[in-house]
Amino acid sequence: PASSVMPRPKFHLTPRRNWMNDPNGLVYHDGLWHAYFQFNPEGADWGNMSWGHATSPDLLRWTEHPVALQCRDGEQIFSGSVVVGRQPGAEQLTAFYTSAYDSGRQAQSRATSTDGGYVWEFHASNPVLDRGTTDFRDPKVFQYIDDSGDAHWVLVAVEAADRQVLVYVSTDLCEWEHASTFGPLDAGMDDAENIVWECPDLIRLCVDGDPDDMRWVLLLSTNPVGEEADPVGSSMSYIVGQFDGRTFTPEVDFLTRLDCGRDFYAGVTFDNAPDRDAIMLGWMSNWRYATVVPTTPWRGAMSLPRRLSLRAIGGDVRLAQEPYGFVPTWLAAATPVTVLGGEGPLELPSSSNAVFELQWDPSSTGSLRLQFQGEGHGNVSVLYDVEKSELRVTRAGPDSERIHPDFPSVSTVPLSAEGPAKLLASLDGPLLEVFVNDGLAAVSNLVPLGTGPVRTTVDSDARGPITVKAVDARAVDKVG
Ligand code: FRU
Repeated sequence: PASSVMPRPKFHLTPRRNWMNDPNGLVYHDGLWHAYFQFNPEGADWGNMSWGHATSPDLLRWTEHPVALQCRDGEQIFSGSVVVGRQPGAEQLTAFYTSAYDSGRQAQSRATSTDGGYVWEFHASNPVLDRGTTDFRDPKVFQYIDDSGDAHWVLVAVEAADRQVLVYVSTDLCEWEHASTFGPLDAGMDDAENIVWECPDLIRLCVDGDPDDMRWVLLLSTNPVGEEADPVGSSMSYIVGQFDGRTFTPEVDFLTRLDCGRDFYAGVTFDNAPDRDAIMLGWMSNWRYATVVPTTPWRGAMSLPRRLSLRAIGGDVRLAQEPYGFVPTWLAAATPVTVLGGEGPLELPSSSNAVFELQWDPSSTGSLRLQFQGEGHGNVSVLYDVEKSELRVTRAGPDSERIHPDFPSVSTVPLSAEGPAKLLASLDGPLLEVFVNDGLAAVSNLVPLGTGPVRTTVDSDARGPITVKAVDARAVDKVG
């Protein structure tokens, strides 16, 4: 039935047609954001993996270009990264990707572009890093600058099934030296052997904006595999530590969930972003059911761009993520309206493409529920539960069950108690992203709300003001 088809989002990157998974080679260059991505030029299922390509001046309006790195006889092009050459006169773009050979072997290869990222040439002596193994993939390259200003290149890649991140260093992007290996981290995990690590990224951030308190954060995507695999499926985590240019030393011995929803995976950051900000895109799907997501003629979407930062919260250093670019711009231009809770559901302007920001004082208004209802039987709610001190995002009902037995879900996130509460919810067709208390928690889910109008309501426990900003993004060109 038509109502179970998911419509195309309006302010997120999707391929015109065919299959897309991980973001690859994210790079800001010459005033343009380039996103490459795992892409099947032949159809809407995973296969013939190649790098698709799109560019945007503002991370909102994307233009898709011809395939950048095309799979070849006996070799698929798996995930990787792009860096901007930083020596004067050598500002070309270099891509590192995984050559996934039909033999099963996986190794890292290199390609360069001298026209700003459109036409790429494979390196004659590929692969450039080969261990003769079958799960060595997802190279992310970045420039490391030490305290004395000396710079070198660092490449991190996974041995996926060993749950290890391998660190390599280079001064010329050609010769790579193995510097260290991180992982596995299996303490307290019974099923660690049924998990693979994928798509690492290693980024430098300061804590609470303090340039004298720098940490490094390892981003990792983890996917349960095998017959006994956890039905929750793939998700992203992070670990905070230090990095000396060769070795990552974590501050704790466990991974923390980065996004507590079901549909945020393979997120990595842009090279060369303005102000050296860490801007991330993730793939909004889950390997558990990615191949049956009901969209056509495209399949796969990127998340909103998110800016990563670190905050010290009660002795811990936590990763925060907030929408970056057009969403904060839209919200800054929206007029806040104050409403009183506690008098039955309050209707927000209806739209299946909208951004809402809600602010209230939990000590007077209490818990708050944001509910989205499509025309079918999709039931999606976001509950900020003050009593249980947790956020619960639920997608339930027959429309969810029809997609896949493991699609219905309840995602819970612990909340820190003090202060005013803030929810930012972005709904763009089938893509729901919820950010709690300035990005201290995020929940990203595909939601089956159908192709018709979506009714949005807010419910709260008690009398107390709620400040609401609503941005209708149906006509994206007219917003902001
Ligand atoms: C992650 C991943 C990567 C791999 C790519 C293949 O989603 O499995 O490890 O490079 O997808 O498409």
